[in-house]
Amino acid sequence: MATTILITGASKGIGRACAFALGRQGYTLALNARSLEGLTHLQHDLHQQFGTESMVYPADLATPEGRNRLCLAWNPLPEAAVLNVGNFATGALLDNDQGLLPQLQSNFFAAESIALSLIRTWKSKGIPGKIVFINSIASKEFRAEAPAYSLSKSLLRQWVQALQKEVVPLGIQLCQIHPSATHTASWDGLEVDPAQLLKPEDVAAAVVHVLQAAKGLWHSEWVMRPGNADYF
Ligand SMILES: NC(=O)c1ccc[n+]([C@@H]2O[C@H](COP(=O)([O-])OP(=O)(O)OC[C@H]3O[C@@H](n4cnc5c(N)ncnc54)[C@H](OP(=O)(O)O)[C@@H]3O)[C@@H](O)[C@H]2O)c1
Repeated sequence: MATTILITGASKGIGRACAFALGRQGYTLALNARSLEGLTHLQHDLHQQFGTESMVYPADLATPEGRNRLCLAWNPLPEAAVLNVGNFATGALLDNDQGLLPQLQSNFFAAESIALSLIRTWKSKGIPGKIVFINSIASKEFRAEAPAYSLSKSLLRQWVQALQKEVVPLGIQLCQIHPSATHTASWDGLEVDPAQLLKPEDVAAAVVHVLQAAKGLWHSEWVMRPGNADYF
């Protein structure tokens, strides 16, 4: 059977581009998003275009229940994952009655809990899996207009760096990709010049490159920007 790769947030934007890029390569895909309808459309499109085998796992990874549901579903067990779920929010910390929690739920815990569940399972079975985290340039360069987003992505970046030290001896590889502004629905309604944004397919190509890197070649962080961009 082909290697199975989990993609979270797979039905739109960067996740969808990853699903097409990896489906084209012949992988079996485990696809997550909240909407079952979005996932079944994606499953159908992938099968039609590339004959891709896939399973769908509707679950809201911004909730503990959704995360638990996905982690109970490791059959077949993915040998690699693209942890992509994340939501962008602007607004001052002082004006935000809910505090950091909503951004932490979707931008940190959605990746943290799935990564830990996979790694613990891989460790018990001796599987040298790979995880690509879709982080953001905002994890490295603080964005005052989106402070909660920046802080949650920055926590993810440092957490992955810490975890990396623990999993290297297990042969498990973690890589973070930090795209700058990428032309997805996240930018709907905002005035941006698409020529100054990355394409989701650019990020997906980087994901394929990392997952297919030669044995012994490890990527840990990859910053991606279009040559002429001022946005993030
Ligand atoms: N676009 C950018 O400019 C940009 C730049 C840097 C980094 N990023 C990062 O790239 C990642 C993807 O962003 P994007 O712009 O591609 O997003 P997008 O176009 O809005 O797509 C988001 C995908 O995730 C799913 N999703 C959203 N919340 C979810 C949740 N709580 N649980 C499960 N699935 C969920 C959505 O489907 P459902 O609605 O059906 O759940 C959809 O498939 C994020 O981590 C983001 O921070 C984006």
